Amino acid sequence: MDDWIKAGEIAGKARDFGAKLIKKGEKLIVVTEKVEEKIYELGGKLAFPTQISRNEVAAHYNAFVNDETVFDNDIVKIDVGVQINGAIGDTATTIDLTGESEALVKASRDALNNALKIVKPGVKLNEIGRVIQETISNAGFAPIRNLCGHGLGEYQIHDSPSVPNFDNGDETELEEGQTIAIEPFASTGSGIVVEGKESEIYKFLEKKPTRNPMARKVMAFIEEEYNGLPFAKRHLFKKFGNVNLALKLLERGGILHQYNQLVDKSKGLVSQAEHSVIVGKKITTKIE
Ligand code: CO
Repeated sequence: MDDWIKAGEIAGKARDFGAKLIKKGEKLIVVTEKVEEKIYELGGKLAFPTQISRNEVAAHYNAFVNDETVFDNDIVKIDVGVQINGAIGDTATTIDLTGESEALVKASRDALNNALKIVKPGVKLNEIGRVIQETISNAGFAPIRNLCGHGLGEYQIHDSPSVPNFDNGDETELEEGQTIAIEPFASTGSGIVVEGKESEIYKFLEKKPTRNPMARKVMAFIEEEYNGLPFAKRHLFKKFGNVNLALKLLERGGILHQYNQLVDKSKGLVSQAEHSVIVGKKITTKIE
């Protein structure tokens, strides 16, 4: 259990550290890399590449290789995942650089806090969803229904159960000691996300023979280094230089899966808040 608490604490610290760096005129990739360095400095490893998604992009925006994005009048989500020996802390917050989206940011934060107030052994998943849905709807926004919180397993970010952001009728009860992440998203738009552009975030699917020597080398590294957790093209470029061809071959060969960005269907602005919890024990990513 210690690793879960430690991973959560590092994730919480890295989130707050990153949130302070997000300012108009700053480069997204600079903040991303500083946050990831901070995670290593604090003794953690990445459970997934640090994601900084802006505006209608709800999730899965990861700084590209040589990403030139500069923050402007944006709603910025920073989502941080840390692992220690496979134990995971997953947490997110939203920064309003528009100066006029305070209510949107507050809606997802309040939804998270209200959900956390009722989380305990025996609480049903749909009750959590209902609290999130009511809080966000009452604030005048739409909860994103097809994004949800999730169980956290060893080296598993999206483990069962699904923790819904609306009352989906799932009456499964939470159990003492279960590790979950709760992550409400509030949108000014439809509350449905669709797949957008590629993300340069990948996940290892299965080992298969590949002829290209570089692809073989990269595959061996990925298998050894990430234990099935997601990683970024950016990280591989640092290690090997340009691996575009190798990644393309591995993706085409069904060895890697590349995630897509997740974008609000009606281009609404999206806020997010997330904490990881050991049910009945502790909110691991909360920094007092
Ligand atoms: Co999460």
